[in-house]
Amino acid sequence: MDSHTLVDAAMSFGTPLYVYDLPFVLQRISVVTELFKDFDFHLAFAVKANFNKDILSALEKSGAMVDVVSFGEYNQVRSVGFTPDRIIVNGNCKKKEELDKYVQDGVFSINLDSYEELLRLETVLSRPARVSIRVNPDVDAKTHRHIATGLRENKFGVDFDTASAMIERIRSNKMLELIGLHCHIGSQITEVEPYLEAVVSIKYFARSVGLRVQVFNLGGGWGIDYGNGKSLDLEEYRQKIFPILKEFGSAIVLELGRWIVAPSAYLVSKVEYVKKTASKIFVMLDTGMTHLIRPALYGAKHKIIPLYETKGRKKIKADVVGPICESADTFRKSYTMAEPKEGEFVAICDVGAYGYAMASDYNLIPKPKEVIWDGKKLFRSS
Ligand code: LLP
Repeated sequence: MDSHTLVDAAMSFGTPLYVYDLPFVLQRISVVTELFKDFDFHLAFAVKANFNKDILSALEKSGAMVDVVSFGEYNQVRSVGFTPDRIIVNGNCKKKEELDKYVQDGVFSINLDSYEELLRLETVLSRPARVSIRVNPDVDAKTHRHIATGLRENKFGVDFDTASAMIERIRSNKMLELIGLHCHIGSQITEVEPYLEAVVSIKYFARSVGLRVQVFNLGGGWGIDYGNGKSLDLEEYRQKIFPILKEFGSAIVLELGRWIVAPSAYLVSKVEYVKKTASKIFVMLDTGMTHLIRPALYGAKHKIIPLYETKGRKKIKADVVGPICESADTFRKSYTMAEPKEGEFVAICDVGAYGYAMASDYNLIPKPKEVIWDGKKLFRSS
């Protein structure tokens, strides 16, 4: 999607505005499907990254599965046509009524996060259910501590001893079918090594308990390049991880979120004005942390591109900020950019994952609109 399209979108729909490039999303699906072509492979899109109905609908048509973590997400994917057999249920604290419904509907897999959750599930088994166990392999994903999930200290999954006990218990219950193992060690992972450590230890674990894994779900986590040149090297991933996956001889599921959608979207915003103080220059945008919380929450650095003529413009070093009453409402600090004028547009990049999905009503500033670019035209999304 080029900058003219983004300016068109801003002029036609007003700002702030999320603009999604749908062909990009479809291309990502093709890339990952092609990479895993020698496996019985299923992409289960992590809905938490983006629950936009038009995006989900395109994913539905592509044949992908989905991973959901709440009733809200479950109902959203059901409403765009995903049948229960294409839905994987995650989440570390599933409610009883949620489990009850997932069992009744017959989802592809309920990924059990704890021994306690297994006991809870047993109380609602109105019919047979397929389950997987989320193991926590105690691996450092080398990512931001808020989005690392595969360490013993994290609240997610179970250690191998607990997993063994769960396997025993599930084996003795005729209503439960253990289809496999699940792990998700973190998000925005840019090194292959943590994945390798995880799959190797899970392989030994499965062997040690004599578990024939039908479905091995490796979660998501593939890191993208937000502008610092670091992303997960897929060729290295293929070389190091595929041989181990082949040994499993099972179906492979990946619950990718960020890698599929993050680079597909821009948050287009209008410059309200430029404030100059004795020590700083602030570029004030009409969007802030309530529309994109990643910089405030994880110190994430998203590129910001000017959608105005930069030739001949003075370069400034500015803090790019929003209108929210918090100092954390800062997208970039000391960011070098061509000085914008009031009313000109900028685009914040790579916001398709955990952007709109994490937006809030704080300060009662309305949420941005969402617009889809389908390769030919722009349309307002639901
Ligand atoms: N599967 C499970 C069980 C997960 O918990 C997650 C993400 C995914 C898959 C998808 O991971 P991905 O492929 O998108 O990395 N809000 C944070 C990211 C939180 C990720 C939570 N779990 C951020 O903006 O960086």
